Amino acid sequence: MAEKRVAAVGWPIEHSLSPAMHNAAFRAVGLHDWHYDKYAVPPDILGLSLREMRDHGFIGCNITVPHKQEALKWTRADALSQRVGAVNTIDFRTNRGTNTDVQGFMDDLAAHGVEVANQPVIVLGAGGAARAAVYGLSDAGAHVIVVNRTPEKAERLLADLFVKGEALPLEQAHQTGAKIIVNCTSAGMHPAEDTTPWDPDVPFPEGAFVYDMVYRPAQTRLMRQAQAAGGQAVNGLGMLARQGALAFTLWTGVEAPLEVMLQTLRDALGITT
Ligand code: ATR
Repeated sequence: MAEKRVAAVGWPIEHSLSPAMHNAAFRAVGLHDWHYDKYAVPPDILGLSLREMRDHGFIGCNITVPHKQEALKWTRADALSQRVGAVNTIDFRTNRGTNTDVQGFMDDLAAHGVEVANQPVIVLGAGGAARAAVYGLSDAGAHVIVVNRTPEKAERLLADLFVKGEALPLEQAHQTGAKIIVNCTSAGMHPAEDTTPWDPDVPFPEGAFVYDMVYRPAQTRLMRQAQAAGGQAVNGLGMLARQGALAFTLWTGVEAPLEVMLQTLRDALGITT
């Protein structure tokens, strides 16, 4: 039986947890002929590399930093990925590109019991990850407030996505009374663990729920700020597992073993709780 191959494509890629997560999932459901690899692909040869993979019989791939936007050009990008402006999953059998980050994020919020409809939600950041979050939140009926270090990028994000919402400085965003905060910046990510996207000089909302897309470290400074203000905080591990689970099902047609995927990520990161 020919091996069924999929892979993650990024630059750099060596720290990707996706191979361990997917290979554990394949084994858990008895898909022993499937294998997930990773390829470091420099930006100037993304299109060539994707064509090579397709020609060599790869079933699909995940696209990660910094290629998600560029990948739109090299696949039949579906309406969602075009709207978000990023492809993270490709099926080479159809050459279709899609985005499972949006649903992965929204599913994980729901799994933590967070309801966003008609709620003000502060999104920190205005890069690729923020685009997926803003799109999903807005689609679910949230009132999105985007806060970014470079304010013009927050304005542009809202305009690009055609979503209603506001771009505000942190001091003003804080005054809206929003109790749901989503970090889509890389502030606080290893190795800059002592940084935070929430300026400590601005009071932290009491009892807020923080979703931090960062998962390395498992407990970020932002999460500690939320907890110190009587709130709850979760990291982005669940989103990583869920976007992967959606891709897994797209490729294999088999329901993904989400708990196996989550546990593999926890093990890889040395998280014991
Ligand atoms: P990704 O695709 O992961 O979203 P990105 O597109 O490079 O990555 O976006 C990174 C985001 O994190 C940006 O919003 C960036 O702010 P700027 O637009 O001002 O560059 C934000 N960011 C990165 N480091 C940050 C820090 N130390 N404090 C606050 N925001 C930060």
